[in-house]
Amino acid sequence: MHTPIKGFSKLSKKAKIEWITNEMFANPNEAVELLQSYWHKESDKQKLHDDFIENTISNYFLPFGVAPNFLIDGKHYTLPMAIEESSVVAAASKSAQFWMKRGGFKTTIISTTKIGHVHFIYNGDAEKLSTFFTSIKSKILESTEEITANMRARGGGISSVELINKTDQMEGYFQLEVKFETCDSMGANFINSCLEQFAKTLKEEIQHQENMSAAEKDIQIVMSILSNYTPECLVRAEVSCPISDLDADPGITPEDFALKFKRAVQIAEIEPYRATTHNKGIMNGIDAVVLATGNDFRAVEAACHTYASRSGKYTSLTHCTIDNGTFRFWIEIPLSLGVVGGLTTLHPMVKFALGMLGKPNAQELMGIIASSGLAQNFAALRALTTTGIQKGHMKMHLFNILTQLEATEEEKQTVATFFVDKVPHHKDVVNKFCELRGVKTPSEIFKNK
Ligand code: MEV
Repeated sequence: MHTPIKGFSKLSKKAKIEWITNEMFANPNEAVELLQSYWHKESDKQKLHDDFIENTISNYFLPFGVAPNFLIDGKHYTLPMAIEESSVVAAASKSAQFWMKRGGFKTTIISTTKIGHVHFIYNGDAEKLSTFFTSIKSKILESTEEITANMRARGGGISSVELINKTDQMEGYFQLEVKFETCDSMGANFINSCLEQFAKTLKEEIQHQENMSAAEKDIQIVMSILSNYTPECLVRAEVSCPISDLDADPGITPEDFALKFKRAVQIAEIEPYRATTHNKGIMNGIDAVVLATGNDFRAVEAACHTYASRSGKYTSLTHCTIDNGTFRFWIEIPLSLGVVGGLTTLHPMVKFALGMLGKPNAQELMGIIASSGLAQNFAALRALTTTGIQKGHMKMHLFNILTQLEATEEEKQTVATFFVDKVPHHKDVVNKFCELRGVKTPSEIFKNK
């Protein structure tokens, strides 16, 4: 499609843009203008974004929405959500409102431990390695004292280090498995720095082992890295109410709603095809708040999906019971989050998002984000088991079409009222809009612009 380029990252921003727009666009000026129109008007703010990553040429906007009325552990929150999918914020707000009147969300932090590994190869006597490891364990920990000093002062640090024999799965494969408490930070840099130091100390110390052969001393460090799978950094969020209080949807009794809802959850528990979509809906709520609060949504996604497969079969992240007239619905997920360091201190919108939430600590944020996922799943299942999902989606779809047609708010309402009991197919919406404007086609409206 275009000629390859050497040394692109060394070019100035202007030169990068020139190369891209000249090589890849029929109208380079128009492309440059588009990129520039998304630059921040304040150069220091733009510089901040430029410096987040390499080769920044512009910014990619996502809507920053808010979902009010979340009652979580007795406190009211308005959740910040960075997401492009049209119905997510509305669904979250609807669920929040529903559960606010029924006691709100209750959260429990089950554990906060994070984990990382030094993966290495040792081709020798496993017993000797184990004895050696026991003898140097305290030295290994001491070697990271400088790195862990600040974290220890905040109440965190390294909680354990173990040698794991994995040779039944791969020849010579061993791990140092290290567990961490990282307080209010996600801790990725901290964990990786400790692990790299462990690897170094391990390799150095083994050289002094008199009872090991040269081949045994020649351990190969494959890699030292945190795991994004954090099943011991776990949070639970729950809602519950008497079944009779599930009375908000016309056309279905609370008892039928509860049963249908529970079956929908059960289907996701047993059927991976449904579980994937079910959990995707949960992640709509989770990712949006994770992103708005400057956390790593890829890490959270990876952890949640691994957790959903922990039994060997991919299953639902939420669960539901109906017992003695009480409806209970909960989520249990691994969430490794930070409220200090990284983007949380750099990105002004992240600071704003955390400010909106009352500057929560990492554990509070775990509860808030788990509640967001649960709320999203409740909204999806409620819609799916009653009116169907398309009604809400189609309304958004209708508004998107009208926005593209540059309809006024009044026109949007008129067209929305017309389609209240009809499916808003694109062609029909355009026709209705044209009828309202007294024209035959939209091009007649735009031709004079
Ligand atoms: C769409 O983004 C999410 C849903 O498909 C989730 C679900 O089906 O549970 C509505």
